[in-house]
Amino acid sequence: MPTKPNFPAAAARRRARLPIVTLLIVVFGARVTRVAGAAAAPHAMVVAESAPAARAGLEILRKGGNAVDAAVATALALGVTNASSCGIGGGGFMLIYWAKTGKLYALDYREVAPAAARADMYMRSGQPDEQLARTGALAVAVPGELAGLDAARRRFGTMEFSRLAAPAIKLARAGFPLNPHMAREIPLIAPLINQDPSFRAIYFNPDGTPRHAGAMLHNPNLAALIESLGDDPDARFYHGEIAAKIADFVKARGGILTAQDLANYRPVWRDPIHLAYDGYDLYTIPPPSSAGVVLEILGMLSNSGVAGLGVDSPAYLARLIEVMRQGFIDRAQYADPAFVKVPIATLLSPQHLAAARERALHHLPAPPAAPAHDHGTSNFAIVDRFGNVVEVTTTVNTIFGAKLMVPSLGLVLNDEMDDFGVAPGVPNVFKLVGEENNEVAPGKRPLSSMSPLIALKNGRPALAVGGSGGPTIISGVAQVTIDTFAYHLNPEAAVRLPRVHQQAHPDLVFIEQNLPFRTRDELAAMGYHLKIVPELGAISAIRIRPGALRGAFDPLKGGGAVGD
Ligand code: DON
Repeated sequence: MPTKPNFPAAAARRRARLPIVTLLIVVFGARVTRVAGAAAAPHAMVVAESAPAARAGLEILRKGGNAVDAAVATALALGVTNASSCGIGGGGFMLIYWAKTGKLYALDYREVAPAAARADMYMRSGQPDEQLARTGALAVAVPGELAGLDAARRRFGTMEFSRLAAPAIKLARAGFPLNPHMAREIPLIAPLINQDPSFRAIYFNPDGTPRHAGAMLHNPNLAALIESLGDDPDARFYHGEIAAKIADFVKARGGILTAQDLANYRPVWRDPIHLAYDGYDLYTIPPPSSAGVVLEILGMLSNSGVAGLGVDSPAYLARLIEVMRQGFIDRAQYADPAFVKVPIATLLSPQHLAAARERALHHLPAPPAAPAHDHGTSNFAIVDRFGNVVEVTTTVNTIFGAKLMVPSLGLVLNDEMDDFGVAPGVPNVFKLVGEENNEVAPGKRPLSSMSPLIALKNGRPALAVGGSGGPTIISGVAQVTIDTFAYHLNPEAAVRLPRVHQQAHPDLVFIEQNLPFRTRDELAAMGYHLKIVPELGAISAIRIRPGALRGAFDPLKGGGAVGD
């Protein structure tokens, strides 16, 4: 599959950013002032990479639901409108700030490798065939999305599942407009899906050309699937007829996922990881997420005077690039904690962060290599009037996951197996090199870059931030956090600010093309090998102050920011 985005289209999109974000649109009456890409509201807010999905969440909040109820509704709706990025054939992470206890809770509903998975399953005649982990039935890991959403609902929600599923069912059945981001993505992978009647019926015109942005899409089979889950999605999806259908479909295409794998799937509540950062308390998801790398990057910059260096200044960016490099070197130590002991306390300790900061000052650049980019994954954030905050990142991995749709279910299957190290030394689609810690094993969760983060100030939520874009999630979440706290940018300015990315391997500094030429030149003069790219992931954020919420989604992927 293509690993590069449509550069000219992306460039046009970036050029279009400023005029778009200055356009004021008033939605939902006088209560909300909405800038395209951003919203301000006093009590409650939903920001998602799809306007209908954001509205689905707000609808639930208005009916008296809390942020967790709304998160379930938003996630299900996103899986309909943004099926190339996420859905019930995938999995994710949810981070919850629960106002009543003042505590944070992390829910891991990441996919797991099927029981028949083996470390060498992608080796063919002694050679790794990494495409097998990306496209087709062997790429599919056991989906965790529904089990996770229902676990969150049962612990913190107040509404029946069917009520929360209603907006998604309506969208899938009555139709929803194809969003511009997906309309740009589909042509990139069209050759991989346009012969499949299920994809064709939804995303292509009768003559086989991809449908345009704004076209009304319908997925009646997915509507029927979600409806059939009733109020017990776990039992109905992971057991019985639906599980058998999924397993048969995968088996017929040479995959290894079985009905027993589905029956065995369990989401896991985990203790969030924490870092004190310049007067804030940052919380995010522990392994199997590598979100700890976000905390490491921020920890290396904590109390280091970056605020005085200037927003996106060469001096600041050089420091950032070097600490990112150190953070990504450590990423190799992260993996599923059920299989590998991840020394997270050590990695986040002041001693380790001080040593890594020191190493960051003595870096020598190495030769350049090709970048990769892809756009599965979706992120959203919700604040409710009770003061609860939910930040979710969910994914099928790359665009339309394994490029497989179970026809009668309208269900897109993930290719999350590619997030494992497919074979030693073999880079995955994001050029992250496979490490032993993250090799395939039965029942193991692949390492993830998804990093939903909630920051508290004096024990009260101050920021919810997260994003999509593989490893650029890590660098993007770190940058938006710094831009918010150190540089005091509002969320729409923070998510729009040009970003940089360094992931240790390849030894390149990826730079968004709208970073000013002067800054680029100064970084090049420092000896960095720069790779100019149209975009580095999509980040969204809600800044939280008493009675004043301000949220923004990244104009790159579009979306909705709505509130009350
Ligand atoms: O969990 C992960 O790190 C990846 N599956 C995320 C993939 C992603 O963000 C794709 N979007 N660009």
